[in-house]
Amino acid sequence: MKDTENGYGGVSILLHWLAAITMIALFVLGQAAEDATDSDRKALLGLHISIAISMYLILVGRIGWRLFNGRPRVLIQQSKPLMLLAHWIPIILLAGLALMLLSGPIMVWSKGYPINIFGLISLPSPLGKMETLHEVMEVLHKLGAKLLFFAFALHMLGVLKHLIIDRDNTLKRMLVPSKKFSEK
Ligand code: HEM
Repeated sequence: MKDTENGYGGVSILLHWLAAITMIALFVLGQAAEDATDSDRKALLGLHISIAISMYLILVGRIGWRLFNGRPRVLIQQSKPLMLLAHWIPIILLAGLALMLLSGPIMVWSKGYPINIFGLISLPSPLGKMETLHEVMEVLHKLGAKLLFFAFALHMLGVLKHLIIDRDNTLKRMLVPSKKFSEK
């Protein structure tokens, strides 16, 4: 279940893929809402918010689990700039995720609106209308989305490099729990 020095355990793998699917879906819905007409925009944002809040505890747990457990060692030695990227990109991805989890709900609540989850549950605003706070959170949420997109693109380039050029077990160890294969 837990990570080892060489690889990820079942919990890390499950959390990684649940968060990855959720974040890609949230990004696509958020972008689509930006370009949509008013009525479509409302529906797309409603879905974006409902999915985000339904997954909230899992996403917070994902950050906490990584903070608490550290990371397995890198599989291969690379040049210094690539080692720095391999170290920092996952940190930026998790920091970006934390920023989105904070700025999203505060952005809705500081407008005075409740957070509505699939029309089933309504979480009323504990803040009331706070226009400046709303504007700051809106800017942070949009910046966060751009930062995450950029970091995600580098993350994908890294995965492809390990898969095609290095041909090592970097992707495999995010698919198979650590004990079940001997690396390299
Ligand atoms: C389909 C898309 C994705 C693929 C193929 C993928 C693949 C991988 C692989 C192979 C690793 C292991 C790297 C290593 O062992 O050093 C990894 C780790 C990581 N990935 Fe992804 N990833 C994807 C999407 C995402 C997304 C959307 C996020 C944003 C939260 C993300 C965040 C991370 C983080 C933070 C790590 C470090 C380990 C951890 O905390 O789980 N990944 N990813």
